[in-house]
Amino acid sequence: MLKQTEMVTVSAPLDENSDLVRAASILREGGLVAFPTETVYGLGADALNPEALQKIYQAKGRPSDNPLIVHIAEVAMLASLTTDVPPIAHQLIDAFWPGPLTLVLPKAPIVPELVTGGLATVAVRMPDHPVALALLQAAGVPVAAPSANLSGKPSPTTAQHVWEDLTGKIEMILDGGPVGVGVESTVLDITMDPPLILRPGGITAEQLAEVLGELPEQDPALAETALTPRSPGMKYTHYAPAAPLILVEGSEPEMVATIQQLYQDYSKRGLKVGIMATQQTIHNYTSGEVLLVGSRTELATVAARLYSTLREFDTRQVQVILAEGFLREKLGTAIMNRLTKAAHQLIAT
Ligand code: TXA
Ligand code: MG
Repeated sequence: MLKQTEMVTVSAPLDENSDLVRAASILREGGLVAFPTETVYGLGADALNPEALQKIYQAKGRPSDNPLIVHIAEVAMLASLTTDVPPIAHQLIDAFWPGPLTLVLPKAPIVPELVTGGLATVAVRMPDHPVALALLQAAGVPVAAPSANLSGKPSPTTAQHVWEDLTGKIEMILDGGPVGVGVESTVLDITMDPPLILRPGGITAEQLAEVLGELPEQDPALAETALTPRSPGMKYTHYAPAAPLILVEGSEPEMVATIQQLYQDYSKRGLKVGIMATQQTIHNYTSGEVLLVGSRTELATVAARLYSTLREFDTRQVQVILAEGFLREKLGTAIMNRLTKAAHQLIAT
């Protein structure tokens, strides 16, 4: 059913802000509110209300076996959501909360199956964004929030992206400006020893190692890409723009040469070609829809613009996207995880 979606700009002071108060009561009454976090915009619902959770899956078109992250503003709330908070959790919380680290812990019975996808664990994080924290405080309930995009699309890094995907499907969008980090939180399972990274994100493995004493393991399933079918005949893409994306990996000169060649081939065939370039390489591309994603020496700039760049290729209606790869270290691990999931083809030069 179509809803009237209200989009409001939230600015300081946030205390007693009437839009936040309204947003919080929408959440408490079982409605959906999109809000900014430091990583991407989230689509929030009361994490303890199954009817509200059901609406998240409907609005996003998301399969309900994909579990949701619960967002909290107070560490004390963890006690009601989990049965055990091990010492390592407290060390990680001290180091990284509020911030882009999601911890997977044993779930308490009150956490609905629609949050956990039937798992025995629950994923929890405290976002580092003043609007998110103020909303969570005002709501007073834990808030389940996936990224506020249509399932399969690039995650939203502005309120406008949320509007494009979800208008008519949710009650309210809080506009807190463009997000800072740009890729989602790192999901770390600490129910196992040693802890396991289930999704690389805003907190890098190298940062986690400073607290854990060693580099955490990565879920072997992360090696899976869009090109590795999970079951015969099933092709899985995520974070994907409308046009097929070809991800080219290798040394800088090799990537550039391959992309130049592919550009020639595709444009000869009459296709509108998008190229995702970096500050270090952009001068090599003189035609096509060339977009600058960021700097190779400052990967935070790439993360911050990754999803909006992918969406901009859609706006420009390119028919194929040629994207340069990045080294899989530090923030490059999360960036490459998202790019390989978005890709229809990988080329290693
Ligand atoms: O940065 C973020 O984490 C954003 C913002 C809005 O907070 N949220 C986000 O949510 O990315 P979503 O739903 O797009 O991704 C949640 C991820 C999925 O990969 C899901 O499989 C995993 O977290 N997850 C959730 N609960 C889990 C659990 N109990 N065990 C393992 N993985 C879990
Ligand atoms: Mg998502």
